[in-house]
Amino acid sequence: MNALSLDTVVLADNKKEMIILDQTLLPGEIKYLTLSKAEDIWEAIYALRVRGAPAIGVAAGYGIYIVASQLETDDMDAFVKNFKEKKAYLDSSRPTAVNLSWALNRMEKVLEENRDKLTVAQMKERLCQEADAIREEDIAISRSIGNLGFELLHHGDGILTHCNAGTLATAKYGTALAPVYIALEHGWDDLHVFCDETRPLLQGARLSAFEMQTAGVDTTLICDNMASITMKRGKINIVFVGCDRVASNGDFANKIGTSGVAILAKHYGIPFYVCAPSSTIDMSLKSGDEIVIEERPAEEVTEMWYAKRMAPEGVKVNNPAFDVTDHSLVTGIITEKGIAYAPFDKAFEKLGIK
Ligand code: MRU
Repeated sequence: MNALSLDTVVLADNKKEMIILDQTLLPGEIKYLTLSKAEDIWEAIYALRVRGAPAIGVAAGYGIYIVASQLETDDMDAFVKNFKEKKAYLDSSRPTAVNLSWALNRMEKVLEENRDKLTVAQMKERLCQEADAIREEDIAISRSIGNLGFELLHHGDGILTHCNAGTLATAKYGTALAPVYIALEHGWDDLHVFCDETRPLLQGARLSAFEMQTAGVDTTLICDNMASITMKRGKINIVFVGCDRVASNGDFANKIGTSGVAILAKHYGIPFYVCAPSSTIDMSLKSGDEIVIEERPAEEVTEMWYAKRMAPEGVKVNNPAFDVTDHSLVTGIITEKGIAYAPFDKAFEKLGIK
């Protein structure tokens, strides 16, 4: 089994449900969930059953199509009103990954542009096509990022990654791990991938290590606090990470701990690349200070994954799910349109990212 063969989010053949791989159970169990209720889709995103910014975007596209289409009406005004209510609800499931609102806004744009031209039945069909397009484009975007990232690699490189920005975080291939999949396609069998465990939800241990190992890559799991010694020992030649939202100046939010990795990479003189579909770049934000950071329940730190609780009852816990890395620590931002180098706002403009 190769994780690359697992579909993260697809539309069911009946076009009334979506099928997601429940990532909370990986790597122990491969289980798919069939979802159609708005509450279940909201919960699947909130609980990280489907996670990773691009995959959340794909789920949001299918999600809003499915739940909006459940309204039996010929009245376009009623359809639009219900669509907007459901959109706001799904949008509240997680705050940091811009792909969630990006996909929902893209679907709403289709609705607004066609509300006077199509019947409700035709609109449902049109929304379905748009959601499919989001998924198809995501696969192509991930491959482009992979090809550009692959050009930066050398035989025998050690690559450090944080969290999971692999195939499981997208429709296929991933962003930060896409260069490794492309390298495999070119017959390279001498890359070494180091996966940060990524406390507290262990996306590195449970997902990236699983992905890379099943793809046949030489994979080493390290705890988050081992990145420094691994770099000092000369094992890491390049860092690839994903991102949930990039501001116009190149500051970016990614899984908690990413900024520490960037600081270490700078210290040890290791190139640090962010892999970002252009849908993740939020040009409306001047800097990372404007990015909303998701705060998650204390239990994820104190007891989740442990056989018994590992912290004293009542202890205060901070659990920010993301942090913001300053653009000064970033070597380059790999988008599907090209690699952006500082100054990032100018580079994004040049790449046609608005
Ligand atoms: O909380 P998660 O698991 O959704 O966080 C995922 C990440 O931080 C990824 O690095 C990011 O979404 C990019 S995925 C291509």
